[in-house]
Order: sequence, then C-alpha cells, then structure tokens
Amino acid sequence: QELTYFDTTNSTQYTAHKLAQEGATEGHVVIANEQTAGKGRLGRDWYSRKGTSVSMSIILRPDLPPQKTPQLTLLTAVAVVRAIKNITGIQCDIKWPNDILLKGRKLVGILTEMQADPDRVHSVIIGIGMNANQRSDDFDPAVRELATSLAIEKDESVDRAQVISAVLNEFEQLYDLYLKEGFTTIRSLWEAYSLSIGTYIYARTMREVIYGYAKGITNDGVLLLEDEQGQEHKIYSADIEI
Ligand code: BTN
Repeated sequence: QELTYFDTTNSTQYTAHKLAQEGATEGHVVIANEQTAGKGRLGRDWYSRKGTSVSMSIILRPDLPPQKTPQLTLLTAVAVVRAIKNITGIQCDIKWPNDILLKGRKLVGILTEMQADPDRVHSVIIGIGMNANQRSDDFDPAVRELATSLAIEKDESVDRAQVISAVLNEFEQLYDLYLKEGFTTIRSLWEAYSLSIGTYIYARTMREVIYGYAKGITNDGVLLLEDEQGQEHKIYSADIEI
C-alpha cells in the first residue's frame, strides 16, 4: 500500500485528487500532520490543527457506476467506528450520511469525492478527518460546543499512528468484503451503528427542509424519509437534525 505523508499540506483531498490524476493506484493513502485549507462537506472549511487531528484521504479505483459511491462513504463510517472501538473502547454513533458522533458531538467527518464519467468512476477519494488529541481550547470557538475528541473523552492522548493503522485495517477488511459480496452486510452494520434510522428527523437539503420518519437506507446508501403526509422522499445529500 502506497502512502504519501506531509507535515503540512493544504488538503489531503486536493493532493489525493492530484495523485489520482497522475495514476495513483487503489489504496494509496495521503496523510497529513496539518492541513492549512481542509475541506468539509457542502463547501465548508475543516479545521485540523497540527499534531492533534487525524487527516487522511484514501484513493480507490472501484469498478462501480457513480451512483454507488455513497455506499463507500457508509462503509468508511463503519470502518472508523470499529477502529475507534478497537483502539480506545469508545463506542460512537453514525449520523447519516457520514458524521461520527460521540455523545452527540462531532468526532469524525468523512468527505467522499470522485472523478467520474456518467457511467464510470475513475477514482473515489475518501477523506477522513478525526479529532484525536484536541483539547476543548484547541477547537475554534464556533464549533467548540459541537465537537469532541478522543483525548477529551479518554482524558489522555491517543497514539494517532495507531488510530490510522486501525482505520486502514478495518477499512481494508470491509472493502474486501464489499468487493466480494456487495453492500448487504455493510448496510446492516451501518444501520446498527446509526442514530438516524427509526426516528423522526429534519433533513435540510439544498432546496428544502423535510421533516419525517427515517425508514432506512437503500442499497445505494440513499436515505428514505417518510413525511407526515406519508410521502416517501429519497435524500441524496442533506444535513440531518435529530
Ligand atoms: C465533514 O464532516 O464536513 C467532512 C470533513 C472531512 C475532513 C477530511 S480531513 C482529511 C480530508 N482532507 C480534507 O480537506 N477534508 C477531508
């Protein structure tokens, strides 16, 4: 497995995209000690402080149609939850599609991007940003109340290298299973860790806010929401409030 490490880079997503264009192979991982322009979902910034965050991007080259890539986001969330449990004993939850929460606060964000034609994926870049050794003061005041870290929860620092290797290890196992057997097992693992299924939620999409009962996810990783009129909505991208 190829690995590119930076002490500082703008964003591992950006570097991974560039490496993918230059022909990087499946499983190539980009890791940074610090990002100066980390990207979050929906055009947001992602803060990652030197020495405290885990910032990594995995390059994949699956033979998949583009509409199946949300499955890989969900797979990654399952891998991260399992890795954190293995290393620290901490059990966190998944909020659709890809937030990992601990006691309701954000611990990990996942950003999946792809380079694709309408019918074929060239590469998928999965970015994982984890709050590992931040203390409360390290967080930007704007997110301080909303975020947490492994160190805050454990009250001691964690070994980031160990966390990274656990994530990659879990990811590899689940990805192999996915390539061999498809999404079914991953989907049920994901549903078991998920907070958002089987409850009423608000889904804030680019166009509207829909309130309804989250029935589950489809095999493509799309969220199924039934509104109060009994109409079913397929949610491809949204912020969820529980
Ligand atoms: C989110 O919750 O909005 C997703 C955050 C994803 C952050 C990670 S950190 C590693 C990779 N590089 C980036 O610039 N973003 C992702």
